[in-house]
Amino acid sequence: MIAGKSSENLAKSLSKKLKANLVKSKVRIFPDGESKITIDGKLSKNATIVVQSIYPPVDTNLIQVLSLISKAREFAKEVIAVIPYMGYARQDREFLPGEIISMKVLGRLFKGVGASRIIVVDIHSRIGLKHFKIKSKNVSAISDLAEYFRKINLKNPLVVSPDQGGKERAREFAKHFGSEFIALTKCRDRKTGKVKIATSKFDEVKGRDLILVDDMISTGGSIVKATEFLKKQKCRRVFVACTHALLMDNAENKIKNSGVVKIVSTNTIPGKTSVVDISNTIAQAIK
Ligand code: R5P
Repeated sequence: MIAGKSSENLAKSLSKKLKANLVKSKVRIFPDGESKITIDGKLSKNATIVVQSIYPPVDTNLIQVLSLISKAREFAKEVIAVIPYMGYARQDREFLPGEIISMKVLGRLFKGVGASRIIVVDIHSRIGLKHFKIKSKNVSAISDLAEYFRKINLKNPLVVSPDQGGKERAREFAKHFGSEFIALTKCRDRKTGKVKIATSKFDEVKGRDLILVDDMISTGGSIVKATEFLKKQKCRRVFVACTHALLMDNAENKIKNSGVVKIVSTNTIPGKTSVVDISNTIAQAIK
């Protein structure tokens, strides 16, 4: 297994679970932004797993993982790319004319450098992986997140998706957690990226503890708007469960200020909120 810089700890736990030798990579970033990548150990002809999430700096982490796969492929017949957080996954279709489907480009790049299989965690939508012409698998972290929440004492809990696109995710979470779920309706302006909640008022959440479930938090805009709406409907506490917490531009504070009591995420992206380890779930998918 080769650990990319962005996923060193996750690769370490994964290698233990799979009893795989772990080789680290060293990276030096030149003043012009280029990455000089060195493999810190011996590569083998055995199947090789490369682990690297593509979170910011996205393009830097992308070129690094492509380089690691390319190098591994010079030795091994099979190279499995484990991309816990797949950047660019939201650009999986042409929403407005002329937009590039970045996932199509990534599909070509991963195949081009020699990846034989790709494993991702809670990809934004399944459409993304359709652009990969190699074996691909999406692993769900939802049961791990739900398990975490089962240990918290909540009052009459309800699972909420901030948008209709996340309804199935919320359904899945609610099934593992053991509660009901609802999905709000969110509208996003495709040009400005601004979001608003279009759901009309309802009583369902009154006095209840809520768990907002999403695949990812970037600017926090979606969670903030959903929380403000839910608070107006007189809910009790709002918790957030998400797989990938990017938390850009002070998003954590914005979310806390909107009334969220706790953000819980997985270690696909390391950070303060990433308290749920998904190495076991990824390991099962590789075996
Ligand atoms: C969108 O449909 C996704 O599921 C997330 O809700 C969204 O990408 C989060 O982005 P932000 O935190 O910037 O609102």
